[in-house]
Amino acid sequence: MDKPVDAALKARALKVIPNGMYGHESTRLLPAAFPQFFSRAEGAYIWDADGKRYLDFMCAYGPSLLGYRDNRVDAAAARQAELGDAMTGPAPVMVDLAETLVSMVDHADWAMFCKNGTDATSMAVMAARAQTGRRIVLMAEGAYHGAAAWCTPVPAGVVAEDRAWQRPYRYNDVASLEAAVAAAGDDLAAIIASPFKHDVFIDQELPDRDYAQRVRELCDQTGAMLVIDEVRAGFRITRDCSWSLVGVKPDLSCWGKSIANGQPISALLGADSCRKGAGDIYVTGSFWFAAVPMAAAIETLRILRETDYLEHMVLLGGKLRAGLDAAARRHGFALRQTGPVQMPLIMFEQDPDLRIGYAWTEEMLARGVYMHPWHNMFLCAAMTEADIDLAIAAAEEAFAAVAARLEKLVPSAMLMALLSAHAPEPVA
Ligand SMILES: Cc1ncc(COP(=O)(O)O)c(C=O)c1O
Repeated sequence: MDKPVDAALKARALKVIPNGMYGHESTRLLPAAFPQFFSRAEGAYIWDADGKRYLDFMCAYGPSLLGYRDNRVDAAAARQAELGDAMTGPAPVMVDLAETLVSMVDHADWAMFCKNGTDATSMAVMAARAQTGRRIVLMAEGAYHGAAAWCTPVPAGVVAEDRAWQRPYRYNDVASLEAAVAAAGDDLAAIIASPFKHDVFIDQELPDRDYAQRVRELCDQTGAMLVIDEVRAGFRITRDCSWSLVGVKPDLSCWGKSIANGQPISALLGADSCRKGAGDIYVTGSFWFAAVPMAAAIETLRILRETDYLEHMVLLGGKLRAGLDAAARRHGFALRQTGPVQMPLIMFEQDPDLRIGYAWTEEMLARGVYMHPWHNMFLCAAMTEADIDLAIAAAEEAFAAVAARLEKLVPSAMLMALLSAHAPEPVA
């Protein structure tokens, strides 16, 4: 696929941006055809810099929950922008938003606002340590909690001391959790967990009820804080904290990405059990109290409460999963589609080096559907049944195209090099 504008932007970027791009939106680990730059977005669609339109199953890696440029949210943001945004003190909407979140999220008695998910997870760890006066934090092996020195998945620039008081355990594995808690002794400050296992490159896993409840029990027994990192999955699973579905209330939960449908704001929500610790830490940022994203969040949350956005996404996700499975089988492929249907990860059986997944997502891209070969994807409420039909029709052709060139596929050299360089450390 010829993308002259994208190619020119990449060449210019290489000169003025390290590696031309960084972080999770870098296309370095995606098939070569994937465009790096996008000129606009609307509803469920994005347009690359060359003007090609895609049905977007990444939703900006989560922020687009209602669809891009939702006019209700944009109008609320515009009304606040008329009044003021970053000011010398917060606008009244800060209190309104805190009250709204506390009323929606059952475990929460208070809210603090910041900008990115990493701010919220970093604050959670600090608040837990301040509350308990202890150091050790248990984190599930392979889980992503952001990109600060304590949690970034790539070791460059990180020193061992940044992680000196972190210990791994295996998600959904009660024995490994109990062993890690026992080893932490009386120095356990917190256990942090994702709502479900949504690590890259491997099948997603919903939380076992026994595991989730054991996490809560162990925190209760030791006095440690339980933190749920909702940054990626928040309000895509339920309208409350995700672990309400397994009967567990955390002390802290971290939110970001979708809570203002794309406006930059994140939040740390907490119970009274961690109110003192949260009040004792010094955390802030020049843009953390900006009013426009807060107004956008209030409107987004109203829509979440008053519409069937979630049931709609679940319905479409189920249709997509069934349609892709059937189409794959017709062409001799077996898919592993894991996680909630509205946050699907799609991998191929017998594809250990992802060469089939790469080829298939490349074929999908050529047919106007943006899917990811190894990261969970996202549906948004702006998608329609017709969009899902379009995706399934594209998939039918893409499977056929991949089947026709199966023998000639080779793994991505870049992916192989990076995977071997950054293989996760095993849990002791
Ligand atoms: C589960 C989870 N936690 C934390 C983060 C960090 O959020 P941000 O990139 O907004 O800092 C992410 C980002 O993808 C995430 O998925």
